[in-house]
Amino acid sequence: MNKGVGINEANHTLTPQLKVTGGRKLSGEVRISGAKNSALVLMAASLLTDDDINLRNVPPLTDIACMSNILLSLGAKLDHRVDNLSINSSNLNNSSPPYELVNSLRASFFCIGSLLARMGIAQVPLPGGCRIGTRPVAEHIRGLHALGAKIEIEHGLVSAVITSPQHRLRGTNIQLRCPSVGATETILMAAVLAEGETVIQNAAREPEVTDLIGLLTAMGANIHGTGTSTIKVIGVRRLHGADYSVIPDRIEAGTFLLAAGITKSTLRIAPFIPEHLTAVIDKLQEAGCILKQDGIGVIIQANELKSVSFTTQPFPGFPTDLQAPFMSMLTMAKGASLITEKIYENRLQHVPELQRMGASIVLHKDTALIKGVSKLSAAPVTASDLRASAALVLASLVADGTTYIRGLYHLDRGYAFMEKKLRSLGAYIDRLNP
Ligand code: EPU
Repeated sequence: MNKGVGINEANHTLTPQLKVTGGRKLSGEVRISGAKNSALVLMAASLLTDDDINLRNVPPLTDIACMSNILLSLGAKLDHRVDNLSINSSNLNNSSPPYELVNSLRASFFCIGSLLARMGIAQVPLPGGCRIGTRPVAEHIRGLHALGAKIEIEHGLVSAVITSPQHRLRGTNIQLRCPSVGATETILMAAVLAEGETVIQNAAREPEVTDLIGLLTAMGANIHGTGTSTIKVIGVRRLHGADYSVIPDRIEAGTFLLAAGITKSTLRIAPFIPEHLTAVIDKLQEAGCILKQDGIGVIIQANELKSVSFTTQPFPGFPTDLQAPFMSMLTMAKGASLITEKIYENRLQHVPELQRMGASIVLHKDTALIKGVSKLSAAPVTASDLRASAALVLASLVADGTTYIRGLYHLDRGYAFMEKKLRSLGAYIDRLNP
């Protein structure tokens, strides 16, 4: 596809880029891949048993490849065929994943819970901050300590050891100070093999936590309170293998709903679980979009958009991971919208890039005031993080002219075949590789 090039492409091919020529309506159906944030934690949970864990619907993403390398570094064996991933951890021989891998994938820190429960020792580098915020792991560590692990943090390395003569953690009550997804998942994976009962209060309720409980239960764990903020785990001595299918990625599904919204198109998106995106569906409807459940999918019809306002919150509130893509859509809505980002302190870095494309956005601390404009215009832009990259792709679909988007490393972490899927819906989008 080669359309509407107004700028010398040779200047734009030193790093991989997306080249998007805006103004096309989209139509047709898009298939949603498995959820990245579920698949990553299910892979960590596979360390809890000697038997095979067969995961289906695993998305082909660079984050998944990184987690695979972490499991390999610990001695696990992996067999990856298309979207099926089989993991065997019967010969784990290392309890310390390397810094280079943990540093490039924050979610890999969550392995500390399963590794500790399984091997009695885990030494995992502190993941550090990332572009969207400081992202502490204090709650994860506090939870493991409450379960009886001896914890030392030195030279950037968290060492957790089970010192009890029974070589098992001890169930207890843990009240999380914030409903952290990763802390809930880490503690769950540690508690399933602990002695006695663990109660996690103020637990995260995100669908990815529920998916983890689904796999752990299929492996023989005894867990109550799924989907609520109080989760009770009755420890078992051993877990066994399981076959399990990852839930569809609600953030990818939401991104395509917003692609329909911003291009004023009609799309079918499947598979789709509406309960995973209630807050987003409400806001899309308030903006004037019509959504209808259609079998295992949803049909969205979009036309003129109205302004809406929201604040990001833990589930079931509006998800931070769709804040940036939703903002892109609102740059073209009639009227003024307010978006407040409450989960991460640095997740509004897409704003200056959207402004370069003609969006009218005023930032004040954690809040963006977006005044809808009648058109965006193409500009070279750079993605600062994963969801910002999706926001820029959405804006480019309607921008006047050809937009070149850099920073695709972020996009490839979390969106499987993004440009291929958009192209099949009629978008003019290509990847330029150097
Ligand atoms: N927090 C603390 N202390 C802690 C842990 C968390 O203050 O000990 C705070 C964080 O600073 C943040 C908030 O709690 O402000 C939420 O963090 P949480 O721990 O819930 O996030 P996470 O588990 O690190 C997962 C997803 C994120 C998603 C968040 C929130 C994975 C691998 N990542 O992160 O996904 O934004 O939950 O839903 O599951 C993405 O996919 O783009 C992404 C960033």
